[in-house]
Amino acid sequence: MTSTSAEIPGPAELTLEEKASLTSGADFWTTKAVERAGVPAMMLTDGPHGLRKQAGASDHLGLNESVPATCFPPAVALGSSWDAELAERVGEALGVESVIEDVAVILGPGINIKRSPLCGRNFEYFSEDPIVSGVMGTGLVRGIQSKGAGSSLKHFAANNQETDRLRSSSDVDPRPLREIYLRGFERVVKDAQPWTVMCSYNRLNGVYTSEDPWLLTTLLRDEWGFEGLVVSDWGAINDRVVGLPAGLDLEMPSSRGRTDAELVAAVRDGSLDEEYLDIAAGRILDLIRKVRARAAIAGPLDAAAHHTLAREAAGRSIVLLRNEGGLLPLSPARQVAVIGAFAANPRFQGAGSSQINPTRLDSALDGIRAVAGDSVSYSAGFPLGSADTADPVALRDEAVAAASAAEVAVLFLGVPAEEESEGFDRTHIDLPAAQLDLVDAVLAVNPNVVVVLSNGGVVALPFADRVPAILEGWLLGQAGGSATADVLYGAVNPSGKLTETIPLRLEDNPSYGNFPGELGHVRYGEGILVGYRWYDAKKLEVAFPFGHGLSYTTFGYGDATASLTASGDVVVTVPVTNTGSVAGREVVQVYTSLADSVVQRAPRELKGFAVVALEPDETTTVEVTLRRSELAYWDVRVDGWVVEGGEYVVEVGASSRDLRSRTSVLIEGESVELPLSLASSIDEVLEHPKAGPALRAVIDAQFGAGSDIIKILGNFPVGRLDGIPMPREDMEKLIAEALA
Ligand code: BGC
Repeated sequence: MTSTSAEIPGPAELTLEEKASLTSGADFWTTKAVERAGVPAMMLTDGPHGLRKQAGASDHLGLNESVPATCFPPAVALGSSWDAELAERVGEALGVESVIEDVAVILGPGINIKRSPLCGRNFEYFSEDPIVSGVMGTGLVRGIQSKGAGSSLKHFAANNQETDRLRSSSDVDPRPLREIYLRGFERVVKDAQPWTVMCSYNRLNGVYTSEDPWLLTTLLRDEWGFEGLVVSDWGAINDRVVGLPAGLDLEMPSSRGRTDAELVAAVRDGSLDEEYLDIAAGRILDLIRKVRARAAIAGPLDAAAHHTLAREAAGRSIVLLRNEGGLLPLSPARQVAVIGAFAANPRFQGAGSSQINPTRLDSALDGIRAVAGDSVSYSAGFPLGSADTADPVALRDEAVAAASAAEVAVLFLGVPAEEESEGFDRTHIDLPAAQLDLVDAVLAVNPNVVVVLSNGGVVALPFADRVPAILEGWLLGQAGGSATADVLYGAVNPSGKLTETIPLRLEDNPSYGNFPGELGHVRYGEGILVGYRWYDAKKLEVAFPFGHGLSYTTFGYGDATASLTASGDVVVTVPVTNTGSVAGREVVQVYTSLADSVVQRAPRELKGFAVVALEPDETTTVEVTLRRSELAYWDVRVDGWVVEGGEYVVEVGASSRDLRSRTSVLIEGESVELPLSLASSIDEVLEHPKAGPALRAVIDAQFGAGSDIIKILGNFPVGRLDGIPMPREDMEKLIAEALA
């Protein structure tokens, strides 16, 4: 972004046409300059886990090459670190690369909830849980923006599938919408003020998000205090003249002037108030001003330093799912057969708009050979995808021979790249049959099998009980190969934990039957029971639960305590000890629940977590603060958040199903002032501070104190049975007096 003028003008100094021209792109990635007034163009580009700046032909689907940039672990992996500080450092690096490349805004992070394992874009999202998504998203945004680059929090909102993504309506009830799908966005907006928010493609409860005044203005700005700019997803504009006053400031990419002309015409014919253009153009000018004010960062990029960070982040993202008999870490002296094409040809990111052109690419095979020597054997084991015409049987037989000649077989399995991408959803969660056959064939000749997975969305693991060691490697970015070797050989002690449940079967997933919807609508029928909330509520067995992840050491938990701060937050403390023989990190998770709630609750909900690094025998008292606001449910009767009073159970553990300590805390609730009317039930009127005692007196007089009659009649609206418990006109009077 270059400008000769020192000052960026305000909207009042621009003509109507100039203001309109600012509200849509000049091309794929840049906004329009207004040279007369000294307004420079600025570039916005993908994101999220690396910079995708296209110098040549542009597209938004990752088809054409971009300038080399560091490919950090995509969100599916980085999320598994549960480490906001690490995310912030990755964000800083993304910010640096953006500033060096003169990019104003990097399009990320994406924090949509993983509603179904089938969503083709799950690799770009953090979790099935809103707090994990919100905390990790906050870390990235803070890091990016600390360098003077803008972030773009996306895709706002309820965009949880790729099927018919530009038209489908996500039909979500208020509670899951607020408590699950919007909660992470709310947290990032309030905690980190992203410079931009990107609306999604879909409709939300029938309304295109790009033209939803409730979503883009009432909620985002009035309620959450968002101060930045709203940009459309690329091609999300349905009706520009409707979208602008709803709060959609910048349309991307270019509409080649068509929608600018529509806006100008609407102002001229009086159907659009020019003030809305002033607001939108003003926000674009504000963003340009912010970008202009940033400190320059001179290139060239220190690619080696960023690669080192990418390796650290990847190592922290790997999840050790299973390690029977301590098969891992491997000693370099052990004879290893590396099997599986992903070892030599890493799958390190997903396809679509987030596809980065990496500065370099480490394979796990090279990483392993760097530690264990060139004598490590390698066989491809199976065809890499449908275009690979190698004979699966011949590949398998060669791999089995290699496995039987080695002490340990390390099998690199995964989802073929062609099966998961932006733009379409998966239809199943199975690994290819050739890979599953290979596992059985190798196990038959060598029990010492380590499986390393490369996948953007979770896969079913039918061999989980038979394979002694399993590493979930997700898509780890450009340094994933060396990071995998770091973990296999113990240079890095794994500390990642699952941010999504690995189910036994796709059919167990809460969205099964509703996903991906039909005829333009997808019903979020599982309500608040998303992810582990569902598996726990239904008491379903899972392959590996939310929050699970092992280490090469072990951790002991002492007794948790919970106390309240002056502002009502809950401070949970728990002593954690490294009881093993190597240094390690533990992600300490805190879940709460409330029995006998007025609303449906999951058996437990994550409300906070902390990462702690401990030397052998070291004990630290970990402190996790749960925000009072996170305890609130969305009350549809009053259209607001309510913290319900009561004794909350607080569970602290190493996963959602490995709870180590339990305590409770008494929370003072907020009273819900329900509007009283003749439609209120007898029970509701009895709860009212003024009307309740008066009605109780009448009932006691009529039926005798302690009568059971109210158990039967309590749910009757007070205006329904004239004379029970009092004549209708008396009831009207009682309510009027209570409301006075
Ligand atoms: C994606 C966005 C991306 C944009 C620009 C869209 O197709 O949904 O996530 O930022 O393209 O490439």
